[in-house]
Amino acid sequence: MSWHDPLLEELGIGPLWVSRTAASAQPQPAAGVTEPVASVRAAPARELPRPVAAAAPLVRALGQADESGEPIAALGWDALEQRVSQCTLCTLCEKRTQTVFGVGDRNANWMLIGEAPGENEDKQGEPFVGQAGKLLDNMLQALALQRDRNVFIANVLKCRPPGNRNPEPVEVERCAPYLQRQVALVQPKLIVAMGRFAAQSLLKTTASIASLRGRLHEYENVPVIVTYHPAYLLRSLPDKAKAWTDLCLAKATFDKLSG
Ligand code: URA
Repeated sequence: MSWHDPLLEELGIGPLWVSRTAASAQPQPAAGVTEPVASVRAAPARELPRPVAAAAPLVRALGQADESGEPIAALGWDALEQRVSQCTLCTLCEKRTQTVFGVGDRNANWMLIGEAPGENEDKQGEPFVGQAGKLLDNMLQALALQRDRNVFIANVLKCRPPGNRNPEPVEVERCAPYLQRQVALVQPKLIVAMGRFAAQSLLKTTASIASLRGRLHEYENVPVIVTYHPAYLLRSLPDKAKAWTDLCLAKATFDKLSG
């Protein structure tokens, strides 16, 4: 019996993160969240439309500069967060309650990247705070990571797509320089891309998650491991085992990179 078994029993949560192939030196399994949720993103939360930059100049869309003349690629953390909070480069700004910049250690070795804020994230301004976030926290625990300590968590999009819809290519394109700058500032040793959208956006591919898992990729010279999105895992228990294998690969890769 390991340290977390009594806790899991107490909570009525099964030890779902069980590796079938992991070697003994692999991270400890963490608890899963067994209660399925229909969706992590739902109804619109804001009524007042905001002005959108009517035809945002392409240079801005590509992250070159705004009225201040400062390119996104040159911004420090505070200026970047400020720029994101005032962003009107796509229509998502019309419906958002607030932007969701990202959370965690800005010097972390690990960076986890999801798709876009959902309803809860839009309200609270922090990524992965709903049911999917609980599962993500358990996944992090399995890697000895904690969101407020040694990992930085961000999304491809900083604003919530209304009605739980998929991000549009133009939204991904316009938001991309923000994530690119975050990665440049954090300088993580490893990125874990969670879900199809994160993986496809970072890796500039249309390939399926299934074909991207299990091997090393690169984004801005940082190694990337692809895994399933926690919200998907809440609905697909069998794939939790696969995600556990992905985390083991991420940990083994990280350990190797760290020498
Ligand atoms: N799904 C995501 O991809 N990101 C969040 O922050 C919340 C749900």
